[in-house]
Order: sequence, then C-alpha cells, then structure tokens
Amino acid sequence: MSMNIAIDGPAGAGKSTIAKRLAKRLGFVYVDTGAMYRAMAYYFLSRGIAGKDEDAIAIACQDVDVTIVYENGEQQVLLNGKNVSGALRTEEVGNMASSTSVYPAVRTKLVELQRRLAEKSDVIMDGRDIGTCVLPGAQVKIYLTAETATRAKRRYDELAAKGIACDIRKIEQDIADRDYRDMHREMSPLRQAEDAVLIDSSKMTIDEVVEAIYEVYREAAGIKGAESET
Ligand code: DC
Repeated sequence: MSMNIAIDGPAGAGKSTIAKRLAKRLGFVYVDTGAMYRAMAYYFLSRGIAGKDEDAIAIACQDVDVTIVYENGEQQVLLNGKNVSGALRTEEVGNMASSTSVYPAVRTKLVELQRRLAEKSDVIMDGRDIGTCVLPGAQVKIYLTAETATRAKRRYDELAAKGIACDIRKIEQDIADRDYRDMHREMSPLRQAEDAVLIDSSKMTIDEVVEAIYEVYREAAGIKGAESET
C-alpha cells in the first residue's frame, strides 16, 4: 500500500513550496491538485465561459481531458494533450479556479484522477479537500495555514521579485475572497480534517515547516531515532 501525505490549507499558506521540498526529501511524488483546477479554469476562460455559468461548465467538462505527467520530477499538466503548466499561475486563472471548483462536474472529474495517482505511488498531495475527501485514509494529514496579512505579504514579495507591480491591499482582499469561497462552498469545502495536524506558518521559516511535517511523517511511518532518510 502506498504512503500518502495530505496537505490542505488556504491560498498562499506555502503548501506547494513545502510539499515540493518534502517530496524531494522523501522520494515521494508531489501532486499539486490546485494546478488541475487551474487547468480546467484556463480551459473555461479560453472558451469565454463565465464562472457563474454552471450549465456551460458542466457541458465543457465533457470535452476536457486533464492528464498529469512528470518531467525531471516536476508535475506537468496536460490539457487535452497540450502542456499548459506555464499558463496557470496568474491571479485571473486562480480566481476562476476558485469560482469553478465549486461545481460537482469539475470536482468529480479531478478527484478520480487524484485518487488514481495516490494509489499508484507514495504521494504528497496538496489542495483544499485532500485529507477530508480525496484521501481520507492518508497516513499523514496536515492543515497548513497562516494569517491573511502574512499570506498577502508573501504573494506581494513573490510578484515584486518578478518585477510585477501590484497593490498589497488588493492581494489581501483577493485572498480573503478566495478563502471565503473555498471554505463556504457546498461540495468538499476547505476545512481541517479531524485527524489533521494544524501548523500555522505565520512565524515559521520554510525549513521549520518542512521539519515539523517531517516529524509528523516519521511518527506515522514508525521511524525511530535520529537517522537520516537521505
Ligand atoms: O492551490 P491553488 O491556489 O492553486 O488552487 C486554486 C483553486 O482551486 C483554489 O482556490 C480552490 C481550488 N482547489 C480546490 O477546490 N480543491 C483542491 N484540492 C485544490 C484547489
């Protein structure tokens, strides 16, 4: 049976950075489920479908094929056979993903794919509903969060480093709106699973968070002592 680590939490909590590092350290496959919802959102945007048009989205879902492949250990998302990974990290696509991920037609399609990936390999999967819905039997469940202002500042710094001008208040508002939608939707809302370990990264470095999750993993895997996994 494969070992599954589920990391859920709100936008900008650092899930993907941390999950990627841990995956490398443990030799696990990293599955970024947000990228799958973004790929679907990218498709709806490219077809000019409105985020509120559930009927059009349900019909469009019948034409969408999302596939995951790995290149040099990095997840690539193929949308109808085309690699769209480079186009998914914009605010527009992120907001559309948050709006359209509320629909059962979108979720059902992706949850199936995510479960198949976790059956085949040891995975670290991050998202919003991994511990509660996708992999309820995951041996390690983490709920990773941080204060809204901290998450907005991190996003602001990330964009500023790329030379992209932005307004931190707008980023903070977008994050708050996204959290609200993700936590209050009917199907698989973002919430901490009862058996998940809560980590608030507001005052922690990336290394400290990685270490904290690694400790949870070691306990779950029954690894004793201070031996190194590398
Ligand atoms: O993690 P992210 O920002 O790339 O995710 C984009 C959106 O996709 C997020 O706002 C909600 C949705 N999502 C989801 O509903 N369930 C997941 N497991 C992952 C993402």
